[in-house]
Amino acid sequence: MGIQVIATTPFKDQKPGTSGLRKPVPVFQQPHYLENFIQAIFDTIEAPQGQTLVLGGDGRYFNAEAIQVILKMAAAKGFARVKVGQNGILSTPAASCVIRKYGAVGGIILSASHNPAGPQGDFGVKFNIANGGPAPEKVTNAIYERSLALTHYSIYTAPDVNLHTLGEFPLGEMIVEVIDPVADYQALLETLFDFDRIAEVIRTGKLRLVFDAMHAVTGPYAQQILEKCLGAPPGTVQNGVPLPDFGGGHPDPNLVYAHDLVQQLFGEQPPDFGAASDGDGDRNMILGANCFVTPSDSLAILAANAQLVPGYRDGLAGIARSMPTSQAADRVAAKLGIDCYETPTGWKFFGNLLDAGKVTLCGEESFGTGSNHVREKDGLWAVLFWLNILAVRQTPVAEIVKDHWRTYGRNYYSRHDYEGIEGDRAHTLMSQLEQKLPSLVGQTLGAYTVATADNFSYSDPVDHSVSQNQGIRLIFEDGSRIVYRLSGTGTQGATLRVYLERFEPHPSQQHLDAQVALADLIQLANDVANIQSLTGRDRPTVIT
Ligand code: G6P
Ligand code: ZN
Repeated sequence: MGIQVIATTPFKDQKPGTSGLRKPVPVFQQPHYLENFIQAIFDTIEAPQGQTLVLGGDGRYFNAEAIQVILKMAAAKGFARVKVGQNGILSTPAASCVIRKYGAVGGIILSASHNPAGPQGDFGVKFNIANGGPAPEKVTNAIYERSLALTHYSIYTAPDVNLHTLGEFPLGEMIVEVIDPVADYQALLETLFDFDRIAEVIRTGKLRLVFDAMHAVTGPYAQQILEKCLGAPPGTVQNGVPLPDFGGGHPDPNLVYAHDLVQQLFGEQPPDFGAASDGDGDRNMILGANCFVTPSDSLAILAANAQLVPGYRDGLAGIARSMPTSQAADRVAAKLGIDCYETPTGWKFFGNLLDAGKVTLCGEESFGTGSNHVREKDGLWAVLFWLNILAVRQTPVAEIVKDHWRTYGRNYYSRHDYEGIEGDRAHTLMSQLEQKLPSLVGQTLGAYTVATADNFSYSDPVDHSVSQNQGIRLIFEDGSRIVYRLSGTGTQGATLRVYLERFEPHPSQQHLDAQVALADLIQLANDVANIQSLTGRDRPTVIT
């Protein structure tokens, strides 16, 4: 036993994307691949000696092996303590909570989020900093630079640590502390929501709910919080046992991949409320009886009803949304007299705004919602926020949504994804579109006149860093928008995302299906970017 220094050579592809380093499992299984990336992370942490690190993952294939490697490398690096979730499990928001609560220097979360798992599926490594949030670009760039210069990594040689039993165990000079993955997180949520009131409506049958954990990390969290603590009947949590391959499914809570849940909510005698989360527990999808709440509307509705929830009763400092997220939240912010910030896609961009106290709630169209309670989006938090609102208002979800539209207007919204297209074709499409932008301004296309056509660039109001090329926007004079972006999270080819939005102030026109209401914008989006001819696809793979 002792520290071994192993010679290695850099891998050229360890540049973290939107959310950590995400690659197919066989890539991570190459000799030294994981070790190199972990060493690059550790080398960018200033003075790790004597510090605490948090470690856990979503339980997917390769989680268990990777955890052991990281523990041994942490011992070699000189960390004093690693808090690791029992059996290597920690959801992304729970990891963020634990980092903050115990003043850890950062945390490593093993997940490829909603991407499928298994021997041929994806694996991922995310690094979060001391505020509990995803490492900002200057840190991920430093990690990448370091990964390109590595000649060695260090690892402590010892037998694997038993992660089944809670408690503290020595690994060389370091302490491995195996923690209950749910306890700290549940304690935090209990400070924010009125658990008694939610339990009461569940107990009396006024609120019947289902939650689909999609065989991913939220199973144990939801069973503990919804069933054991709030008293929802056994079976409320469906697919609650985390499996290394997520049961062969695609744990992305949307209308396509959470199809079974959607069928229940749109079927015979639907429950009052349904929700699902993703692989690592940070996303959420909210459904009511015969009703799907778009993530953009969900953010706006949470903001508009925040005064009903104990943790947010004193008001919101501000709201932030990613650029492609609909402007529904902006309308609530305007009414509340608070600021609404527009950031690039990626939760990491909310970190500075949250740390500076400029915003309380954040949300993204990609099924992410969260607040200043942690520095990640948080699936079960969103579920409890909704349950708290429902417990107080005792109004069906669909009515709450319609009522919101009547008050604020409806931002019709949809996202069309073209998945797995050839990288070259996708880049050609984006560059041809970008070249066209100057000529589009002022043009009238069908019923729409282009007011702005640009590639979104963000200047962080806190640290003034600038992030360019964050998505092509066509903003029309009436506020409607078409946004085009290439996904930063896929691992197979490229994914083109087209985001469509149109505002409808008149209650008599707010009941349409979004695809119908947006039909002319959809056509326009296809024509302007030549999507069909350049991608070779006649329709999107996923519509949400
Ligand atoms: C991850 C990030 C989100 C982001 C999403 C975008 O889930 O945590 O903050 O919105 O990726 O994914 P995309 O595939 O559109 O780049
Ligand atoms: Zn996720």
